[in-house]
Amino acid sequence: MKTILSGVQATGDLHIGNYLGAIKPCVELQTEGKAIYFVPNLHSLNVRPDPEKLRSETYANIAWFIAAGIDPNKSILYVQSDVSANSELCWILNNYVTMGELSRQTEYKDKSLKRGAKGQIVALFTYPVLMAADILLYGANQVPVGEDQKQHVELARDIAMRFNNQYGETFTVPEPVIRKVGARVMSLQDPTKKMSKSDPNQNGNVLLLDDPSLIETKFKKAVTDSGDKIEASEDKPAITNLLQIYAGFSGKSIEDLQKEYVDKRYGEFKSDLGSLVADDVAKIQTKYNELRKDTALLQQIIDDGAVKANEIATKKLREVKDKIGLL
Ligand code: ADP
Ligand code: TRP
Repeated sequence: MKTILSGVQATGDLHIGNYLGAIKPCVELQTEGKAIYFVPNLHSLNVRPDPEKLRSETYANIAWFIAAGIDPNKSILYVQSDVSANSELCWILNNYVTMGELSRQTEYKDKSLKRGAKGQIVALFTYPVLMAADILLYGANQVPVGEDQKQHVELARDIAMRFNNQYGETFTVPEPVIRKVGARVMSLQDPTKKMSKSDPNQNGNVLLLDDPSLIETKFKKAVTDSGDKIEASEDKPAITNLLQIYAGFSGKSIEDLQKEYVDKRYGEFKSDLGSLVADDVAKIQTKYNELRKDTALLQQIIDDGAVKANEIATKKLREVKDKIGLL
């Protein structure tokens, strides 16, 4: 049976890019095998988040996963810091990856460039190694992520193969699962920039927590390209992005949407898209709001997840320790 695994960070409010790129594919893949989803709260520490905020956003992420359709009775939902084996394997794997490989990770390059000298935190550099540990400990075959995480999953593959070559078959070699639509949702205000939790222009982001009427407004105000044709092309990055979002939420293909809107204007297209997204997000929000109130229930789900995750992780860690000579 296949194992599907992914994590979504708990710092900042989730947006529709996180939803289309990571959460929705997780929900859809849940039926295809054993699914394991987690909140990588240790990864979030490199921005030194406010402790109360980090705690609260960890619960929030678990609630979003469930509200979006992850069933905690079928899938494992856990919080990274509840399983110390992830951190322990990270330390071990640090010995099977080079400074050069980590220096070439684009996410590291981008983030470290944006931070001053004091921001050059070691955990930012070794971030992909912890991610490799998250993946390899659980025998994941498929890792659904947005485009920006592909390179990290590829590094996890390289580490797995390197380790297997030296010590014999130990790790499953994982594959990134990148959807054709929604793998890189761009800002509604600047289609050359990825929609991101850290974008200061929040009008460009559509948050899962936004009021449905605000979602409609954000789409109405979304920038468009010159011309008036609703078609995806390289010289129409804004419309291409909106078509992608439309396809991601409606399940229709870009070609079909282009046909549907062949004689229509940008205004009508953006207004239809805004209502579609607002309606879908509103449904998820209703479930989320109910769950988020019940911290005791969320804690129970997290505790159950920790037991199941620890069981898998501890076994694999023991196997690794035996192979490399740790008592
Ligand atoms: P952010 O970049 O907003 O801080 P994260 O790095 O926490 O988001 O990413 C969580 C998940 O959402 C990852 O799988 C990532 O690839 C995906 N993701 C993030 N931004 C986008 C986006 N704009 N479009 C599609 N997927 C995205
Ligand atoms: N780095 C991922 C992100 O920014 C989160 C993450 C941590 C992850 N460990 C993972 C995703 C393992 C998939 C598998 O969103």
